[in-house]
Amino acid sequence: MNYHAIAIDGPAGAGKSTVAKMLAKRLGYVYIDTGAMYRATTYKAMRLKINLENAEEYSFLETTEMKFIEDVLYVDGEDITKKIRTNVVNQNVSLVASHIPVRNELVRLQQKIASEANVVMDGRDIGTVVLPKADLKIFMTATVEERARRRHEENIANNIESDYQKIYKDIERRDKIDSSRAYNPLRQAEDAIYLDTSHLDIDTVSEVIYQMFMKIIKDNKE
Ligand code: DC
Repeated sequence: MNYHAIAIDGPAGAGKSTVAKMLAKRLGYVYIDTGAMYRATTYKAMRLKINLENAEEYSFLETTEMKFIEDVLYVDGEDITKKIRTNVVNQNVSLVASHIPVRNELVRLQQKIASEANVVMDGRDIGTVVLPKADLKIFMTATVEERARRRHEENIANNIESDYQKIYKDIERRDKIDSSRAYNPLRQAEDAIYLDTSHLDIDTVSEVIYQMFMKIIKDNKE
């Protein structure tokens, strides 16, 4: 059986995960947060005290179990949701995600998940590398100011200590590393739809994507 997939790529803080979750819920699809998988790898690598700069020290991934149940990512049976959203993970994740063996292993796992279920998957290379045949590809972005503002407000709402200037600088730094890495950088797929969400609210964005997807499914049936 062929499963359906929506691929949502874009830089940090563009609203990808919120929109992807809303769409997955509405469609009854599985939501896959691939950023969480790179974060989980970073978290485990730090716990194992490997040299994060050495791409050859990530073979632990071959025996690591990553599983999504609902929106929660379990690594070797442990719910690591909160542990991967810390400053120290934020600081190191782009480095970890730049290693070829790490990317190859996680892409393999992401493709396996999408071969067994209908998915809405968000990340940086979903439309270009992970699911080049996705039914719908979206490239979602917003200005750095707007993305930093959203992260800041999200932190405040979640009672997480927050400094707008620091978030702004961190987003700029990660954008640069994610877009300039040599292997599978953040890049818009040629057939992806570009959505600047700076002046759009999330409900509108989600509705627009939902309608586009339903049209594709309908047209494919006819
Ligand atoms: O979406 P996020 O901020 O949780 O992603 C964390 C980091 O992982 C981000 O700096 C880029 C990297 N990433 C990636 O390289 N490829 C993906 N498909 C998803 C995330």
